[in-house]
Amino acid sequence: MSQTQPATQPPPSPTIRTIAMPADTNPAGDIFGGWLMSQMDLAAGSVAALTARGRSATIAVEGMKFHRPVKVGDEVSLYAELVHVGRTSMRIHVEAWRRERDRDSGEQVTEATFTFVALDEDGAARPIRQA
Ligand SMILES: CC(C)(COP(=O)(O)OP(=O)(O)OC[C@H]1O[C@@H](n2cnc3c(N)ncnc32)[C@H](O)[C@@H]1OP(=O)(O)O)[C@@H](O)C(=O)NCCC(=O)NCCS
Repeated sequence: MSQTQPATQPPPSPTIRTIAMPADTNPAGDIFGGWLMSQMDLAAGSVAALTARGRSATIAVEGMKFHRPVKVGDEVSLYAELVHVGRTSMRIHVEAWRRERDRDSGEQVTEATFTFVALDEDGAARPIRQA
């Protein structure tokens, strides 16, 4: 799923889908990049929780790219894919896509690879048990 150019078709089903609202804008009225990154982190966190079967935390984000802007009212879909499981860590590639509410097709707006670490109840790294 990782690429230097945005993809032309999204993956089959999103991990999270939401709507970009006026409260998510920067002072210029465009959707704030930090909001989009937090949605990506939530989508990756969902995959991490399922993979780690419990608590986990983001330790790194690599290759963050903003290909296109997001506008207020856009439907934003987050696609998260597990790409590697280490001893305690998981690498999860995430793409965000936007679709104008009244249009059939959308376009890719961001991508990044998130690394999460499985945590024990004291907040220390714990091994991931693989099925
Ligand atoms: C997560 C945390 C407990 C890990 O601490 P640690 O025990 O010192 O971590 P380690 O150095 O043993 O690394 C744990 C795993 O992360 C990987 N890792 C560490 N730093 C990394 C980095 N910069 N990029 C990618 N992977 C990294 C290690 O390779 C290791 O993976 P593996 O076990 O699969 O081989 C600690 O870093 C932490 O609490 N960080 C803050 C997390 C947080 O609050 N996130 C939210 C941010 S707002």
